[in-house]
Amino acid sequence: MRIVMLGPPGSGKGTQARIVSELYGVPVVTTGDMLRDAVARGTEHGRVAKGFMDRGELVPDRIVNMVVRERLSMPDLEAGFILDGFPRSTAQAYALDRILRERGLRLDYVIHVTLGDEAIAARLGNRRSCPGCGAVYHLESKPPRAVGVCDECGSGLVLRDDDKPKVIRHRLEVYREKTRPLLDRYMGAGIIREVPGDCPLDELPGLLRRILG
Ligand code: AP5
Repeated sequence: MRIVMLGPPGSGKGTQARIVSELYGVPVVTTGDMLRDAVARGTEHGRVAKGFMDRGELVPDRIVNMVVRERLSMPDLEAGFILDGFPRSTAQAYALDRILRERGLRLDYVIHVTLGDEAIAARLGNRRSCPGCGAVYHLESKPPRAVGVCDECGSGLVLRDDDKPKVIRHRLEVYREKTRPLLDRYMGAGIIREVPGDCPLDELPGLLRRILG
């Protein structure tokens, strides 16, 4: 199964990707987490990416395409993958087409997660993320068992630097300008499935299973 998660920042792409991963045993590739990891390790790509991420801009295509191409060639993704946060621009969509074509593969689904700007802004201030394993929590809808501590790996939870109101607004603009147009592209292929980003968390596994079969 090869899936792309598409939707505005904070709509719930990562949350749904993890549910699909648990349901079908397919690994998730989250470009945001890969880039944050590169920033934390101070790699060459990470040093370039940091400024773009802090401002809520897209990291340049050449870096992201290179990172994704390398990751998709790894053996654990041979049977499938869920791309969370890629592609995000026309150039990235072309790059993904090329990678898939070279391997004789195709996408099965694009899951379009929908949520309005106001709900997103209200939601992201209450998100807490785990820098250790990438798990995502919400102070109201999905609190960790112990305050500030990841249930899965025990790391301290953080509020992401780009989850501040001004940066969130800019991320939404960037999404509308650069990423949303990709929906038209995939619409033609008939592989888009819409999932409301405010579907109650306990109903998501059933809904995603019905949609994906
Ligand atoms: P990235 O990390 O990908 O951020 P994003 O796309 O902005 O998406 P988010 O992670 O903010 O949100 P999400 O939709 O995954 O929502 P989540 O499930 O966490 O990218 C960050 C930056 O990296 C970019 O700005 C860019 O600079 C760079 N980057 C990454 N990929 C790139 C690329 N391909 N090209 C160039 N640059 C790139 O949910 C949000 C909150 O809501 C959580 O608290 C969650 O618990 C809660 N929640 C989720 N679903 C529900 C629900 N159904 N009910 C109640 N609460 C819910």
